[in-house]
Amino acid sequence: MQQPKTALITGGNDGIGKATATELARRGMRVIIACRNEEKARQAIRDIQQEGGERQAAFLPCDLASFGSIRETARLYQSQFGPLDVLINNAGIFTSQLEYTKEGFELQFGVNHLGHFLLTHLLMDSMKQAGAPRVVNVSSIAYLRGQIDFGNLRGEKGPGQYEGMKAYAQSKLANVLFTRELARRHPKINAYALHPGPVRTRIGNKHSNWFTSLGWHLLKIFMVSPEKGAKTSVYLATSPEVEGAGGQFFDDKQRQRTLSEAARDEGLGRRLWEASEEVAASK
Ligand SMILES: NC(=O)c1ccc[n+]([C@@H]2O[C@H](COP(=O)([O-])OP(=O)(O)OC[C@H]3O[C@@H](n4cnc5c(N)ncnc54)[C@H](OP(=O)(O)O)[C@@H]3O)[C@@H](O)[C@H]2O)c1
Repeated sequence: MQQPKTALITGGNDGIGKATATELARRGMRVIIACRNEEKARQAIRDIQQEGGERQAAFLPCDLASFGSIRETARLYQSQFGPLDVLINNAGIFTSQLEYTKEGFELQFGVNHLGHFLLTHLLMDSMKQAGAPRVVNVSSIAYLRGQIDFGNLRGEKGPGQYEGMKAYAQSKLANVLFTRELARRHPKINAYALHPGPVRTRIGNKHSNWFTSLGWHLLKIFMVSPEKGAKTSVYLATSPEVEGAGGQFFDDKQRQRTLSEAARDEGLGRRLWEASEEVAASK
């Protein structure tokens, strides 16, 4: 009997990640959700199993704000599971206040980009054991406003200069640059980036300003469900149509042919890769 394909989904206990994991399990894949909140993850596993069956879902602890935790996640994956067909770097946060990862990086850059950069590297051997591995990076069209401020990756400019949206856009541009550089360096891995659309989840709940917080909650009325928001992730994880389309950015299952100047900047992608490698390798 053919073994089911395996997908690991970060942040698979809530929002778009949980909806993605549920749909992949329903389609017969074995899904492993990597999450920091164990209680929520256990509940999510029960929900996913209802859709996909008992053997279809498992949980690995993973706090993307800690390199130590990420290393342990990768170690546990390698000791418990075999080839990794699909890695979905989905987890993400938005915060309007300057916060830090365990290693002292600005939290949004640390979780949304650096944590996933490290996890992807640590799981590379498991992916290479799979026939045609895929990495799906959940970015956002917020990347369009992003710039990489190499002098402020640890929040050196201080809380007075901190703008949550700017930091979020930086981290989402980093997702796109990482995808493109990964495709250049590892052409056998199909790496994609995507925008899931405006999706009704908890991600924008950490607005500290009452005005933007109210705006977010009002906007939620017009947003789509997590199930709809998961469609492009599921498509990129499963569809034969995108085989060989590594390095591309998708929105609503459509390949976007025009990217921002920053996203197309190969020198910037290389510099970000090297900077990320240096810090992630040294911890
Ligand atoms: N919703 C939208 O409109 C929208 C639009 C564009 C892009 N996106 C992107 O979509 C992705 C999923 O977001 P969502 O909207 O589904 O938000 P969400 O419902 O808030 O889910 C985010 C997930 O990330 C996890 N997470 C946060 N920090 C983590 C950490 N340090 N370690 C491990 N997991 C962590 C959360 O876990 P906890 O439960 O432990 O917090 C949760 O499972 C994100 O990358 C986001 O940038 C969303």
